[in-house]
Amino acid sequence: MNVVLIGSGGREHAIAYKISESKLLDKLFVIPGNPGTEKYGNNVNLDYSNQEIIIEFCKINEVKLVIIGPEIPLVDGLADSLRANEINVFGPNKKAAEIEGDKSFSKNLMKKYSIPTATFKVFTKEEYNSALEYLSKISYPTVIKASGLAAGKGVAICESKVYAEIYVKQCFNESLFGSSGETIVIEEFLQGEETSIFAITDGDNFVLLPAAQDHKRRFDGDIGPNTGGMGAYAPAPLVTEEILKRVTEKVIIPTLKAMKSEGRKYNGCLYAGLMIHNGQPSVVEFNCRFGDPETQVVLPIIEGDFLELLSSTAKGNINKESISVSNKNAITVVAASDGYPGSYKKGFEITGIEEVESENVIVFHAGTKLDDGKLKTNGGRVLNVTAISDRSLINAKQIVYSAISKIDFKGMVFRKDISDKAKIIK
Ligand code: AMP
Ligand code: GLY
Repeated sequence: MNVVLIGSGGREHAIAYKISESKLLDKLFVIPGNPGTEKYGNNVNLDYSNQEIIIEFCKINEVKLVIIGPEIPLVDGLADSLRANEINVFGPNKKAAEIEGDKSFSKNLMKKYSIPTATFKVFTKEEYNSALEYLSKISYPTVIKASGLAAGKGVAICESKVYAEIYVKQCFNESLFGSSGETIVIEEFLQGEETSIFAITDGDNFVLLPAAQDHKRRFDGDIGPNTGGMGAYAPAPLVTEEILKRVTEKVIIPTLKAMKSEGRKYNGCLYAGLMIHNGQPSVVEFNCRFGDPETQVVLPIIEGDFLELLSSTAKGNINKESISVSNKNAITVVAASDGYPGSYKKGFEITGIEEVESENVIVFHAGTKLDDGKLKTNGGRVLNVTAISDRSLINAKQIVYSAISKIDFKGMVFRKDISDKAKIIK
């Protein structure tokens, strides 16, 4: 079958790599893709926010499946438009994607269906005074979130009322996140260890992929500003069989049922961002897509036909037997541009990738571009250097850091403690 994959990050490179293993794949088009995805298919430089163009492209090229990577086209309803044109899509429709696109919706859904999550209250811009009043009554730290999409930057952990008041003011009066911050969620600060679990679902049935742990803070030891993710590893030993059973029973099954009862049947990857405390899961957030950089470690440890999994899901009849989980461990370390997540320079030549790539090392591209035949930096998160070991996580760590030491670009920075969290199991 001919497949379109939408997106241009490390996540999409990892999806392209995995589906390229499938015998079902004829042609792969990545819209717009990156220099890494080019190895597995054709990059097509189209603007995916223009739904008409994507539909036309799919028709002309006899595309049988569209896999939508990022949240924005999902929240904008690209899946709905494609389905209306009888094109199969892996990814939720607009109403279901609100589970990520509108945090006030997802929090209220969890409350209504008793899905464990931090206690919360929602305030709109018009309720500014009530929000301030509420801040006087609660304990600190507290967490304030822009309700709409904010590229992972809309969350503030406020240590005191003063900071909380400033943040609310920034959201409501200074349009820090534009319309995304006109509604906010103020919620309880949760203790514990985080994990990301992906459920691939046709809305009724599902398979869970191995649990991963992201490293969101910029610096070693989980300090500094939040980023899109500085590295990840999988599987996460934090998620024992018992915890996975609780996640399944208390989070995944009730959420899929809730979405269906609300007329928002979910088809695609439901990303559950969870806090685990004393063995109990609580939902930090839901995303309507695969995580980045978690996908870069989850897919390399899956065996079987991943394309068959996505294609059968898109058709509404998930083939759960199409994949299995290997005994391998994977780690990805993000090589970023100095200054990220703040401002940084671009356009520096990248060297060393070809020398390190092997059976056990894959370098997934994120912010890269080809310029006069040279690979150059083109973003904050530039590369995801990924190692896979069939021996142990420690072995994967040795491989990944040995590989990254051979890669270079001006201003390259990375965390040196990716996967050390695996030792602190609470
Ligand atoms: P989110 O974008 O909702 O995933 O939030 C970004 C990060 O903020 C999460 O990965 C957590 O590390 C942290 N965070 C969000 N909500 C909470 C919470 N209620 N308690 C503690 N930490 C949180
Ligand atoms: N790694 C966090 C996310 O994909 O939202």
